[in-house]
Amino acid sequence: MKKRKELFSAEAVLDNLNTELIGRRVAFFPVVSSTMDAARDLVHEGVPEGTVVIAEEQTAGRGRLTRSWMTPRGNIALSVILFPHLSQLPEMIMLASLGVAQSIQKVTAIKPDIKWPNDILIGGKKVCGILLEADARFTQGTQVAYVIIGIGINVNLQPVDYADIASTATSLSVVAHKDLSRLSLVQALLQEMDKLFVELKSGRSLFTKWRARLITLGQPVTVTSVDSVFTGIAESVELDGSLFVRCPDGELKRVVAGDVTLTENSGKR
Ligand code: BTN
Repeated sequence: MKKRKELFSAEAVLDNLNTELIGRRVAFFPVVSSTMDAARDLVHEGVPEGTVVIAEEQTAGRGRLTRSWMTPRGNIALSVILFPHLSQLPEMIMLASLGVAQSIQKVTAIKPDIKWPNDILIGGKKVCGILLEADARFTQGTQVAYVIIGIGINVNLQPVDYADIASTATSLSVVAHKDLSRLSLVQALLQEMDKLFVELKSGRSLFTKWRARLITLGQPVTVTSVDSVFTGIAESVELDGSLFVRCPDGELKRVVAGDVTLTENSGKR
């Protein structure tokens, strides 16, 4: 029997989407260079907070630390535009990674882990990458932050088809052993992120929930930061999201931005 193709469009995403803010407006592109660029253009046009940009395919998708991100059709590539209070900027990473982890768990019943700061892994392999780009803009003379949260989820990708990521990445269809609805996943993701953003706006912190999902703590890690590479044991995380790593000579180093590889399983994408 021929498989019915799922309708994946702005209208379909908005249909029955029960959110307060995220998904107020959805812009859908069949092909775009990067949803990050499209989202930034929309910020400058003055779109409302909560606008979501979704692409079927990205031709120049980007990842953290100047890496590229491949988005063939059948996966999820989206960016969410938020205007948080400046003090909430560190929690945007927590909001994004928790939103992804919780929504995957809702739809598939599989519980993903978070690798510091915001990679989503299943069985030690990367299923989702998150990229945050923040800047300031002026509204009626006041400077406010805007954050673009870019999320790429491997849904129907077959990592074995791509040599670069074959051993380090996985996809939801691989772990669930079936095709999954991108529409259900995107709607669940927007719903979970919306709930978390409302929590944050009402003054509650996402830190405890985020830390509980981190697989990095207590593990031997290799840290690649802007200016150095070092190893140690990931000891703790701070309220602002930074990571403390105990080095072999006893020194405790604080990592604010960088890439962490779990030494026993160098899962990286
Ligand atoms: C990483 O793990 O390095 C982050 C990957 C982020 C990929 C997403 S896909 C949607 C959005 N558009 C991009 O160009 N990148 C992000």
